[in-house]
Amino acid sequence: MKIGIDSIAFATSGYFLSLETLAKYRNVDFAKYCAGIGQMKMSIFPPNEDVVTVAVEAARKAISGIEDKNNVDMLIFATESSFDLSKSAGIYVHHFLKLKENCRVFDLKQACYSATAALRLAKSYVRENPDSKVLVIGSDVVKYSPRTSGEPTQGGAAVAFVVAKDPRILEIEPWAGIHTTDIMDFWRPSHLEEALFDGKLSAQNYLKSMHISVARYLEKSNIAISDVNHVCFHAPFCKMAQKANSQLFRLKSIGETLIYNSVIGNSCSASLYICFVSLLDHIKDDLTGKRIGFFSYGSGSVAEFFSGIVTKNYRQMLDTQNNQKMLTDRVEISFQEYESLGNRENLDFHSYKNVGEVAMFGINNHQRMYKVRKTY
Ligand code: CAA
Repeated sequence: MKIGIDSIAFATSGYFLSLETLAKYRNVDFAKYCAGIGQMKMSIFPPNEDVVTVAVEAARKAISGIEDKNNVDMLIFATESSFDLSKSAGIYVHHFLKLKENCRVFDLKQACYSATAALRLAKSYVRENPDSKVLVIGSDVVKYSPRTSGEPTQGGAAVAFVVAKDPRILEIEPWAGIHTTDIMDFWRPSHLEEALFDGKLSAQNYLKSMHISVARYLEKSNIAISDVNHVCFHAPFCKMAQKANSQLFRLKSIGETLIYNSVIGNSCSASLYICFVSLLDHIKDDLTGKRIGFFSYGSGSVAEFFSGIVTKNYRQMLDTQNNQKMLTDRVEISFQEYESLGNRENLDFHSYKNVGEVAMFGINNHQRMYKVRKTY
């Protein structure tokens, strides 16, 4: 049975900070950000937007592509930046999408890797339950402290995809190369909003893990690296993916995979799959029958390399113009506004627009309050 990605969509906040602005105020040469780390802009989340609100928007678009949402009987929410250590963020999404009650919902966490774990679980579940569809969401807001080297690599977004039999976009192949190692390269204790990291160690471990997991994938699959037509890499910043690609493929360009991430910034669990959407939306060649490799990396760390074959007629499932419009419609914020939004005491829920139908409007008794907006 063919199983894989049947529909896919993403969403990010309606605001961004230009890295040219950040460079100016941090007294850094902008060339370091645009050429050195490969980033132009980063999405900034106002108080009324969080991992749930953008996830609802991405998931709403992803399930609009399937015939009957009542076939969704599992929702897996992959995130490392949720706000509750007990209740699943996925339950809010389940509520706003009005999915049926007879549906399993849970969160998964392993840094930026967890959406890949969710994809593997979803695939096994569909093999056992061929008429089921599984909604996988990866949603993260990435924050580092001001003036750290990580500051220009912040960002955030949600991706949502439906895993089903006879998929209309990508059939996932059976093989995977995995590498897990205990390392402190990036972590976020539960009392902190901003992640802590050892930047150089994380970049080294990303590359080392890639080589090991790719070697394991090639050994298991008996596929030659030259049989992989395109590769999407987890992109904590675009230069990281380009460096990985130059060590793996050398001459093949991955430019099309990075167009969205270069203006969104790091979106952790969503990042790899936004690279995939970016490839589908921007490449001129017909990808039908082409093998796409995926390198997923979550600090801490777990890495996986796997592949899929693009299905016939995949172009009918794309929403390229709207994806591009969503990003060009974002509002640029000033440096002063960026600083004010970084202040935890800023609880201005009402002055900012939301990208989707659901907005957060307050916190009461430690509970997040969401409403469905009439206009947006
Ligand atoms: N013009 C052009 N290029 C310039 C430049 C200039 N004026 N100044 C510097 N550069 C180049 C440098 O030469 C360097 O390039 P190379 O890496 O090719 O040598 C690049 O810009 C970055 O410069 P530095 O190494 O000096 O930058 P830094 O110390 O400020 O740190 C960083 C950069 C490590 C990426 C930092 O942003 C960081 O730590 N980010 C957070 C951690 C991270 O994203 N790690 C990635 C792997 S972990 C992961 O994947 C999980 C996850 O999502 C976090």
